[in-house]
Amino acid sequence: MSELRTSQRSGRAESARAGDPGRDFEFTSSDFARIRELIHRRAGISLSDHKRDMAYSRLARRLRTLGIDSFRTYLDQLESSNDPAEWEAFTNALTTNLTAFFREAHHFPILAEFVKKRPQPVSVWCSAASTGEEPYSIAMTLVEALGESAARQATVLATDIDTQVLAKCDAGVYQYEQVRHLSPERLKRFFLRGTGAHAGLVKVRPELRAMIRFERLNLTDHDYGLRNPFDAIFCRNVMIYFDKPTQAQVLARFEPLVKPRGLLFAGHSENFTYVTQAFRLRGQTVYELTRDTDAAPAQARTHGAMNEVNA
Ligand SMILES: C[S@@+](CC[C@H](N)C(=O)[O-])C[C@H]1O[C@@H](n2cnc3c(N)ncnc32)[C@H](O)[C@@H]1O
Repeated sequence: MSELRTSQRSGRAESARAGDPGRDFEFTSSDFARIRELIHRRAGISLSDHKRDMAYSRLARRLRTLGIDSFRTYLDQLESSNDPAEWEAFTNALTTNLTAFFREAHHFPILAEFVKKRPQPVSVWCSAASTGEEPYSIAMTLVEALGESAARQATVLATDIDTQVLAKCDAGVYQYEQVRHLSPERLKRFFLRGTGAHAGLVKVRPELRAMIRFERLNLTDHDYGLRNPFDAIFCRNVMIYFDKPTQAQVLARFEPLVKPRGLLFAGHSENFTYVTQAFRLRGQTVYELTRDTDAAPAQARTHGAMNEVNA
């Protein structure tokens, strides 16, 4: 073990001498190409060229933790050992988890008005939940729109591929800075404020936490294992990491998971219009099922034909 460490140290020193002075490890174009291929296969994520430094710095931490001296060895071991825990760490390292409470705020009043008109109990799936700010914003919206007791009957499923962020969802603990823009009513109703050693932190109230089920789910899996459709699906700011064929596959899997006249919420820079015919834009990056809007003319046509036969 100590011998291995010695050779690793000298390996790092050599690659630094070999013209990469800021880096502990040699990082070649073929290492990066291999990482891109693996994360695309694993999570559908397409890493662009400018993510090269990000990939280096995030995975270099894994190499240090494991005491491995080159990217090539790490990637060889990753592929040959097929260790699920290391694949999980590899995937967690390469996801981008930027999020915020009530991010893209215009969606939440739309959700509030929508759920008031739906048969109860409603169900919402937040499919790229990151550290929880989005599903907690959804749950708060349901409580405000429907009242405590109807909202508590609702199903809120929050999933993500990254197990580290799901642990943060589960804990429901955030910096006060992350919620300071919320109204005093929301803060009081939905959060507990830390004191003493927890000063500067807030924790989601247990009643709000209890409304949400958090689970790991990879959007590129062929079968999500979800049998009941949802009134609304949030899939915001994750499709931007997928290429068009992957986006089309995900949207095809979403179609049967949206109830008639249900909604799909997308991120501000995501446009599914040219990717799928299953959903059509309703406005403000909110989509609805095309079959819902097609149904009326189709029925009218059938009805018209019946009248003719009966005449
Ligand atoms: C930028 S965050 C967006 C969070 C939130 N939806 C929002 O808009 O604020 C993207 C999230 O997608 C997740 N993700 C990436 N690839 C995924 C996949 N194949 N399946 C499920 N989640 C994935 C990442 O782990 C990350 O938490």
